Amino acid sequence: AKAQIGVSGLAVMGRNLARNFARNGYTVAVHNRTPARTRSLIDEFGHEGDFVPSQSVEEFVASLERPRRLLVMVKAGEPTDEVIKEFAPLLEPGDMIIDGGNAHFADTRRREAALRERGIYFVGTGVSGGEEGALHGPSIMPGGSVESYRTLGPMLEKISAKVDGAPCCTHIGADGAGHFVKMVHNGIEYADMQLIAEAYDLLRGVAGLTPPRIAEVFRRWNTGRLDSYLIEITADVLTHTDAATGKPFVDVVADQAEQKGTGRWTVQIALDLGVPVPGIAEAVFARSLSGHTDLRAAARSLPGPKGGTLDAKSAEHFADQVEHALYASKIVSYAQGWNMIQAGAEEYGWDIDLGAVASIWRGGCIIRAAFLDRIRAAFDTDRTLPSLLADAQFAKEIGEAQGAWRTVVAAAGEHGIPAPGFSAALAYYDALRAQRLPAALTQAQRDYFGAHTYRRVDRDGSFHTRWAQDKSEAGA
Ligand code: 6PG
Repeated sequence: AKAQIGVSGLAVMGRNLARNFARNGYTVAVHNRTPARTRSLIDEFGHEGDFVPSQSVEEFVASLERPRRLLVMVKAGEPTDEVIKEFAPLLEPGDMIIDGGNAHFADTRRREAALRERGIYFVGTGVSGGEEGALHGPSIMPGGSVESYRTLGPMLEKISAKVDGAPCCTHIGADGAGHFVKMVHNGIEYADMQLIAEAYDLLRGVAGLTPPRIAEVFRRWNTGRLDSYLIEITADVLTHTDAATGKPFVDVVADQAEQKGTGRWTVQIALDLGVPVPGIAEAVFARSLSGHTDLRAAARSLPGPKGGTLDAKSAEHFADQVEHALYASKIVSYAQGWNMIQAGAEEYGWDIDLGAVASIWRGGCIIRAAFLDRIRAAFDTDRTLPSLLADAQFAKEIGEAQGAWRTVVAAAGEHGIPAPGFSAALAYYDALRAQRLPAALTQAQRDYFGAHTYRRVDRDGSFHTRWAQDKSEAGA
């Protein structure tokens, strides 16, 4: 029998997605540039389902039923273009190439348009959940045309994670919408990880807790509103002891965070779209700063505040306050992430169901969390919610958390512990709720040195003050 789906690129993500399709009863054609990988997949996992291995691209394409569905799992960038160049001439109108890598959505838009000319569907698809997710059920974010989703969608839904019986997969929107939303997912992932790292750092540096004690705190949090995969794995990491040294594992890992680019893209695109996402930006910068060993070495001897940590009783209380700070900051970074999706949708004409995005992130993906149900509920109540902060429930919770949040940000400052995520989130919150912002002064300065003009609160039009002359106002 011919295969219903083909997977080309059998590194760990491709291999596990192929196995996931096979375990769900699909006949799966498999191909890899170097055939050794194809062979090892068949040797190790061939018994899991119906695989059709191929040595060449021609053989691979011929082994697929029509219209062909061909999932490409190669490194994002050049390799994707090369694979498309190889496959496209062998395909016929109605066939479909699915790109499951972390592609830049602009590349996806370009590829989709080029292949559409030839009658071939190109479906840029976000896939989250790492290797385990790929095998047992990832969160899947397909873009591309509505027609392509008609036949592909049910297959992707079948292999996706399920929450309350609902698949963690939905058609996101046309062309690059799926990869755009996956990019924002990763931006939020960066922000979440940064906030958790700051919480850990504060619990250690201010409350004086050891990593195993902090793990207990995280485990407790994980039974409440912060219940999430990232909190769960953080607790695991913090209880792990390094076998070689007997030290907490976290103390033997080099403190320079790396990144493959999706967080950086989120910020770059946010700047282009004019969406403020300081939570994500601070997370990207924090990683970048950590890697600047030269700058850090040069600054190591700069003075800081006096040391000292809290007594046990205050430490307990402080841990509760950090929980509030973390929760409030999390609401803020998700608010920014959703604004980014809204802005992308508007700019590129995508009809994105904002509640559905929350829904498919409840399972399978790295940022999966109980919290996402709440976001979905917020959009169920109001589809056009301008900000998550405007949702009555979130507003109430953030209002209740704000006292503790401010204390934590102040404590970070007093103890000299960098908390750019917490502080930027609080600044964002305070800026949005301000009756008046000092942006008025910025405008006056711009008008002063560059005659850039300003608007007034009491009259329409644009105005300029003749600063260098008699300070009279010219208006229009
Ligand atoms: C996911 C992850 C996945 C990957 C990131 C990590 O959703 O499954 O986000 O895409 O782990 O590429 O990104 P960095 O290497 O940039 O931290």
